Amino acid sequence: MRTPVVAGNWKMHGTVEEARHRVWDMLQPLQELSGVERVICPPFTALLAVANMLMGTDIRLGAQNMHWATEGAFTGEISPRMVAEFAQYVIVGHSERRKFFGETDETVRKKVRAALDHDLTPIICVGETIGERETGLTDRVVHQQVLTALADCSPEEASRVIIAYEPVWAIGTGLTPTPEEANRVHREVIRATLAARFGEATARQVRVLYGGSVKPHNAPGFFAQPDIDGALVGGASLDPQAFVAIVRAAAEAKGTK
Ligand code: PGA
Repeated sequence: MRTPVVAGNWKMHGTVEEARHRVWDMLQPLQELSGVERVICPPFTALLAVANMLMGTDIRLGAQNMHWATEGAFTGEISPRMVAEFAQYVIVGHSERRKFFGETDETVRKKVRAALDHDLTPIICVGETIGERETGLTDRVVHQQVLTALADCSPEEASRVIIAYEPVWAIGTGLTPTPEEANRVHREVIRATLAARFGEATARQVRVLYGGSVKPHNAPGFFAQPDIDGALVGGASLDPQAFVAIVRAAAEAKGTK
């Protein structure tokens, strides 16, 4: 049985003070849903404050990005060593990083390697653009993204990563694929790629999340799918009630409650 994961990506939202309030409002109900791995990914500036609030709980902390080098002349960047001071997870290859900040499959590969070297669990984002979907390229694009991201990993390391399938056209738009469509990509593309490269056992162990306009009302449908192990939630994770409702839906669907 794969433990379900629900991660909240706050993106570039909020001051430290706002982060404290948001966490405060979700902390108690989130703690009661311990069958789900719950990860909060605030902006870098709020990591320390949120880390302090999560101390003594089993709710985990993630960063939204990092550089791959341990240290060096990279003005404005944050290294894996710095992230690992506070967090246990790191989002890698989010489509907004790919689109606006030059993230490529190659930089994702380096960041995945760096995350593993610093005992961080990478949440690796993959997914096709609308143009790729419309020209029938979804499977090829996602296959290549998964393969390159994990090019430097052993089967054991690969089994510990988390992959988030986030169709780019579904992020922040209110549009989603059907749960069946998402599940097909998870099974026929992502798990199949993992199985071919690392073996069936690894492919069965990797948690594959769906992301892109996940809300309390549509989350149960995604979580009912056998190859969807949870969600990477953007906008709805900013609303404590909505985020808790999504975590609860995961607990109920996966029988951990
Ligand atoms: P969304 O974002 O839930 O707001 O669509 C998802 C994400 O960017 O991870």
